Amino acid sequence: MTELVTEKAALKALPGTTAVVMTMGALHDGHRELMRAARAHADRLIVTIFVNPLQFGPDEDFDRYPRTLDKDLELCAAERADVVFAPSVDEMYPGGLPAVRVEAGALGEVFEGASRPGHFTGVLTVVCKLLQLTRADVTFFGEKDFQQLALVRRMVRDLDLPVDVRGVPTVREPDGLARSSRNRYLSVAEREAALTLSRALHAGAAQVTAEGALSAAHKILDEGTGVRLDYLALTDPLLGPAPATGPARLLVAARVGATRLIDNVPLDLKGP
Ligand code: PAF
Repeated sequence: MTELVTEKAALKALPGTTAVVMTMGALHDGHRELMRAARAHADRLIVTIFVNPLQFGPDEDFDRYPRTLDKDLELCAAERADVVFAPSVDEMYPGGLPAVRVEAGALGEVFEGASRPGHFTGVLTVVCKLLQLTRADVTFFGEKDFQQLALVRRMVRDLDLPVDVRGVPTVREPDGLARSSRNRYLSVAEREAALTLSRALHAGAAQVTAEGALSAAHKILDEGTGVRLDYLALTDPLLGPAPATGPARLLVAARVGATRLIDNVPLDLKGP
């Protein structure tokens, strides 16, 4: 039985280990994968559903972000979540948005943070609150939002939060498009154009040098129509400067129509 909880006070500490999967709802197969990984690691699974106003900029899609609670509850029940915590904005932020926030620092100002000022401070603040409220021992985040995962790891380390953070590989459609709640905004033509992102990353990941990876990916992005590139970046796995050899990450963000999409893949560089 999956219990729906909407009040903080109803989240009780129970014996055994607790895993939490945090979401903004509009759940899809990517979230299912997080829930399955979490279920296998703990006695109890809590899924949180909260569209967090603190992480949306004034011109972003907070009001039109898809809200599909009934369907989401069915999916959580199918994945055997014990509790779904779906508070209102007032319940999470009584008296208005919080004055004290978790500052994301320099890593919060690059890539996604460069075009979304304050976004990661909003994310980390709500993630910190949800970790406290759920008393989670372990939490699972998708690698699709790679910078978010890196920042949550960093917060846990910097603030000594007693929780284990695990990353789960991106779930893709059969044609390569990374699963995202925002994919539902895409028209048929835009969805086709959006494939340019995963194709570019795939081409980049097939290369063995940093230069080769970036130029192979750029070539595909330049040829693609209907895609406005925001950034293509090669980094190390912690989002620092790209190494000449060893594990790296290729990240892309672009606008397709009015929708902003992001994706990333791991690479293993062999050097020039
Ligand atoms: O990735 C998301 O859906 C959100 O950023 C999160 C982690 C649930 C915080 O609101």
